[in-house]
Amino acid sequence: MLDVVTGGAGFIGSHLTRALLKSGREVRVVDDLSTGSLENLNGLKTSFNETYEFVELDIRDTEGLKRVLDGAEIVYHQAAIPSVQRSIENPLRSNHVNVGGTLNVLAVGHEVGVRKVVYASSSSVYGDSESLPKIEAMEARPLSPYAVSKFAGELYGRTLSRIHRFPTVGLRYFNVFGPRQNPASRYAAVIPKFITRMLAGQPPVIYGDGEQSRDFTYVEDVVNANLLAADSDASGGSVNVGSGERYTLNRLVGLLNEILGTTFEPLYEEPRLGDVRHSLAGIDVAESELGYFPEIGFREGLERTVDWIEPLSH
Ligand SMILES: NC(=O)c1ccc[n+]([C@@H]2O[C@H](COP(=O)([O-])OP(=O)(O)OC[C@H]3O[C@@H](n4cnc5c(N)ncnc54)[C@H](O)[C@@H]3O)[C@@H](O)[C@H]2O)c1
Repeated sequence: MLDVVTGGAGFIGSHLTRALLKSGREVRVVDDLSTGSLENLNGLKTSFNETYEFVELDIRDTEGLKRVLDGAEIVYHQAAIPSVQRSIENPLRSNHVNVGGTLNVLAVGHEVGVRKVVYASSSSVYGDSESLPKIEAMEARPLSPYAVSKFAGELYGRTLSRIHRFPTVGLRYFNVFGPRQNPASRYAAVIPKFITRMLAGQPPVIYGDGEQSRDFTYVEDVVNANLLAADSDASGGSVNVGSGERYTLNRLVGLLNEILGTTFEPLYEEPRLGDVRHSLAGIDVAESELGYFPEIGFREGLERTVDWIEPLSH
């Protein structure tokens, strides 16, 4: 059966695409290559000649989407303009792609008879919740245009689920990391950014006092959650996907120093607007509704990520 991965040339989408192909599914990747790259899909044309297809397309193109979603069983909707900072600099663009594009995927998916849409949402929808862990029953309190856009995508999914009995589920990813997460972009996430700087002999830069904490989730666990969500009865709601543990940025630097054999002290700069202070996923719903259990420990995930970035830095 055919699955479509939107944003499949990106970090998470490329891992998901590989996992689906390896499990014997046919996969069509849909991506406009705005933040993703064909390099992330290297080797797939050769290894999965019969079952893999790449289509360059903007998810806002309704007619194009009708063609590429036709015949698909599951749509794993990963395409978005990621990053809080990008959305602060250009909120309209984030809105157009993340809200308009998501509605397009949902509406066209329903129209052409897709069985289910699994949507990549974000822990950022919680904003600064008063207590930890963040659980699905809490009110969403977005702090950035990005978080608003991800929450709006969830609401459209829920609404279409109710009106049309069209199965959709929103997975709220908590700080995903791992190989192929772009370390070079100005908008790079904290882990690839720190590793790249430290490998280049420079101290990592922390915005704030470094005591802010995050639930860092290894990409393989996120892929697994997607596969479980597609097979589960979960529909019309949102489910946290995290590790269930949190680490401060100071502790992250300590762990990276241990792995790299370095002794860097971070440089501290002013906190950034739109960043949340603490983040920790409550994963009971993921366990009970999806059968999801995180499998890769933080240190192991960091070691694998360093192993991927290290050769690039030479
Ligand atoms: N990485 C994280 O920590 C994290 C956390 C929470 C949620 N998410 C969500 O997970 C998804 C994947 O994120 P990622 O980290 O892999 O980012 P990424 O930038 O590597 O992947 C996003 C992909 O979407 C594609 N894309 C962007 N706009 C598009 C458009 N208009 N049409 C078609 N394709 C388009 C990009 O080219 C890219 O390949 C996103 O929806 C993001 O919001 C990521």
